[in-house]
Amino acid sequence: MAQVTPLDGVAVITLDGHCGSGKSTLAKQLAVKLDWSYIDSGAWYRALTWAVLQAEAAVDDSSQVLRVLSEIKLTSASDGVVSVNHQPLRNQLRTPLIDKHVSAIADHFDVRDALNEGMRFLLSVDDVNGLVADGRDAGTIIFADAPLKVFVEVPVELRAQRRFEQQRQTNPDVTLSQVQDALSRRDKHDAQRGNAAPHPTDESFILDNSNQTVEQAVGRLLTWHKQIFAAG
Ligand code: DC
Repeated sequence: MAQVTPLDGVAVITLDGHCGSGKSTLAKQLAVKLDWSYIDSGAWYRALTWAVLQAEAAVDDSSQVLRVLSEIKLTSASDGVVSVNHQPLRNQLRTPLIDKHVSAIADHFDVRDALNEGMRFLLSVDDVNGLVADGRDAGTIIFADAPLKVFVEVPVELRAQRRFEQQRQTNPDVTLSQVQDALSRRDKHDAQRGNAAPHPTDESFILDNSNQTVEQAVGRLLTWHKQIFAAG
């Protein structure tokens, strides 16, 4: 069992998983239940993509991306909402344009290092009780010392079905096979990022998020939280 190691004195729980596994919903609710801060690492990549596109810089040129990053103030509030130069970004980050370019930004390892530093800086914010972070590499790289690491698993067919049901509310023409193809492409792309590709560590708790409600899954996370942090 993992030791409770202080990360600048802040307790950290990480939830990683593939695209569409529901990890963000769970992480957000867990953070609310614990009154901890939430970090949506995917939103950091999306916000930087937004800023790079605004600056008309090239997403596939890491020096241009890093230059944009050095020129903006990228921050995250305790509810996970990311701001660029104090402008909170919400719907702006969930557009087909951002979806199209965000992977290119996330492919640059030097950019990943810089964003990871920014996320770790949140550990030093004075009034943080604890942090719940979700992403692909939150437990493997960003907060590799986190005492509780969770890997959220859902079979690809079910992730596609759930995403299809969401998407057809706004796009009645979308088909299940389109959604399946897009998801498989993203999984394949994510898998090419070496150690930053989504995978559990030896210490990770595996949460099967296929056949339970959000409440049940959060209940399970709270049990693990108690098990790990009460022991410290
Ligand atoms: O989870 P999401 O769809 O918001 O992630 C957006 C993109 O950022 C996606 O291409 C995966 C990438 N990402 C990453 O590489 N590492 C993370 N920790 C989080 C997201």
